This record gives sequence, structure tokens and C-alpha cells, in this order.
Amino acid sequence: MNTNSKIYIAGHQGMVGSAVWRALTAKGYTNLIGVSSTELDLRNQKAVFNYIATESPIVIIDAAARVGGILANMNSPYEFIMQNMQIQNNLIDSAFQSGVEKFIFLGSSCIYPKLAPQPLKEEYLLTGALESTNEWYAIAKIAGVKACEAIRKQYGKEYFSLMPTNLYGSNDNFDLNSSHVLPAMIRKFHEAKENNNATVTLWGSGTPRREFLYVEDMAEAVVFALENKLPDSLYNVGSGVDLTIKQLAETIQKITGHQGAIIWDNTKPDGTPRKLMDVSKMNALGWKHRVALEEGIQKTYQWFLDNIQYLNKTT
Ligand SMILES: NC(=O)c1ccc[n+]([C@@H]2O[C@H](COP(=O)([O-])OP(=O)(O)OC[C@H]3O[C@@H](n4cnc5c(N)ncnc54)[C@H](OP(=O)(O)O)[C@@H]3O)[C@@H](O)[C@H]2O)c1
Repeated sequence: MNTNSKIYIAGHQGMVGSAVWRALTAKGYTNLIGVSSTELDLRNQKAVFNYIATESPIVIIDAAARVGGILANMNSPYEFIMQNMQIQNNLIDSAFQSGVEKFIFLGSSCIYPKLAPQPLKEEYLLTGALESTNEWYAIAKIAGVKACEAIRKQYGKEYFSLMPTNLYGSNDNFDLNSSHVLPAMIRKFHEAKENNNATVTLWGSGTPRREFLYVEDMAEAVVFALENKLPDSLYNVGSGVDLTIKQLAETIQKITGHQGAIIWDNTKPDGTPRKLMDVSKMNALGWKHRVALEEGIQKTYQWFLDNIQYLNKTT
């Protein structure tokens, strides 16, 4: 691997893919390739195979997926399971058939059982039932993890998976119909402040505990995995620290400058009671996150303010 090696970042315009692109460019990598979903629909097996065979990258980083929060998962279970399986199957199998040397598959912490012991260790995979609100997405991701593991086991190739915790940062999705909790809160508190609304209503009880990682730390983990030979096929990537959703809301309220009450809508689902990754395996290899939550939220809020005119209106 050198800075001229051809690296294809699938999903290079998304939150994670764009952060990986920036991180690799900053390290001097000059032969990155990426293509948007309008130019290449990764659900199209033949088109994906042709693209990989023609471009012949040495490495593929799979940051392309149908992604969304609880609401989007509950409304579109079929799209979440099928589109994700199509995208990853086409990429993994085309890579394998074309002799791509290294493949980095990005999954999500929702692959682990709902009631697994905390913090979540890689070995807890497939030891219990999944959280029902996003099991469709999780099952697709588990299939991707296992496909990479199978190629590694059978053919000894460097195909492996990184499981990020909840990510946030520049290029995040702030559309309240499909966003994750952290960007949704940034938007809600910001708009409440702008509209002089005294209250902000948030989903659930506020008691679940969650972990968050700034997307640039995630990108550094991908660069680390690219530049080092990882001995195993599955690694968690997170900060190793969690907080309650209520604490998160109060932090975001303070950063956005909204003043008023937070109302918790208990009729809406909470999801898993706690989700914290055990990141000791990745830390032992030498990668560790750097950006503290408050600093990351401040940077993300600034990005939101700088780009608000390009974002969809609240619906
Ligand atoms: N966001 C999180 O909190 C989080 C947490 C854990 C894991 N992850 C994982 O990280 C990866 C990237 O997530 P993200 O947050 O960066 O998502 P994102 O911002 O929504 O980006 C997803 C990317 O996938 C591409 N894509 C989707 N469907 C496609 C299709 N049919 N054909 C071609 N490209 C397609 C999109 O391309 P276009 O822009 O060209 O349409 C987009 O660039 C995913 O595997 C996700 O599971 C994310």
C-alpha cells in the first residue's frame, strides 16, 4: 500500500465516506475514486461488477448504505434489508471476483443483540435477539460481516468489518424524517431558538444510554485499518463512553443556545436501553478516538449553521 494505490470509496459523498476521503487526501493519498448513486446504482449487480473490473482498485472501502434512524427503519423495513444486502453483496462479490486485495466493510453497533451484556464485545454477535425497530438493517449488516469473514476464512484475503457506534459530524443528515438522534436534536433546538419556542419535544423517556463518535475519528479508524494488517475480521469502533439521551439533549440545548423546557414524549419508542461498545480490541492495536463529545457537537453545529441554506426544510 502506498499513496498512489487506487482506493475506491463507495458512498464517498455520504457523511462517513466524505470524511474518509478528506482524511486520506490529508495524508497524501492521490488515487482515490468515487462515484455518486446517480452515476452508479450499487443495487445494480452488472453495473457494479463492470465498474470494479474496469477500475481495478486495490482497496474498497464500503461506506455506501441505506441509512436512517428509528422512524425511517420502522417505515421502510423492506428497503432497509433489501437495499443494504444488494449494495454490499454487489460490492463484496465484485471485489472478490476482481481480485481486490483489501475490503473494509462498515456495519453498525445494531448488529449486536438487544439485551447483550454491556459494553458490547465483538464476540456477542449472534448470541441473542436483535432490537426489533432496526432488525432489518441489522440483519443485512450481519450478512455483510459474515460474507467478509467467509472470504477471509476460506481464501485468506484481508476482508474485514468495522462496526462504528453512533456517528455524527459534517455532512450529517438533518432531515427530521430520516435523521439519527443527535443531528435531529441539533435541528430541533436550533429551530426552537430561532422561532422563540419555549419547549422542545423529544422522543421517548430520555433514559436510554448511548455512545457517540465524531465522524473524523471514524475516518481515522478507517485510515488506520487501511494502513495496518488487522489480525481479525470484526472490530468495534467507538469512544467507549456513553451518556443518557437526556444528558445529550441538555448538552445540545446549551450549545445551540435554546432556553426553555424539554418535553419527553413517552408514547414514542426508546429503542435499546443501553448501547456502548467495548473498543478495547481496536485500542489495543493502536487506534483511539480523539474528539470529545462537546467539542464534536460544537463543530457539527457550526457545520449545520454554515450549510443550513442547502439542507431540506423541516417537514
Ligand atoms: N451515521 C451513523 O451514525 C452510522 C453509524 C454506524 C455505522 N454507520 C455506517 O457507515 C456507513 C455510511 O453511513 P453514512 O452515515 O455516511 O450514510 P450517508 O451519509 O447516508 O451516506 C450513504 C452513502 O451511500 C450511498 N448510497 C446509498 N444507496 C446507494 C445506491 N443504491 N447506490 C450507490 N450509492 C448509494 C449514498 O450515495 P449518494 O450520496 O451518491 O446518493 C451516500 O453517499 C454505512 O454503512 C452505515 O451503516 C453509520
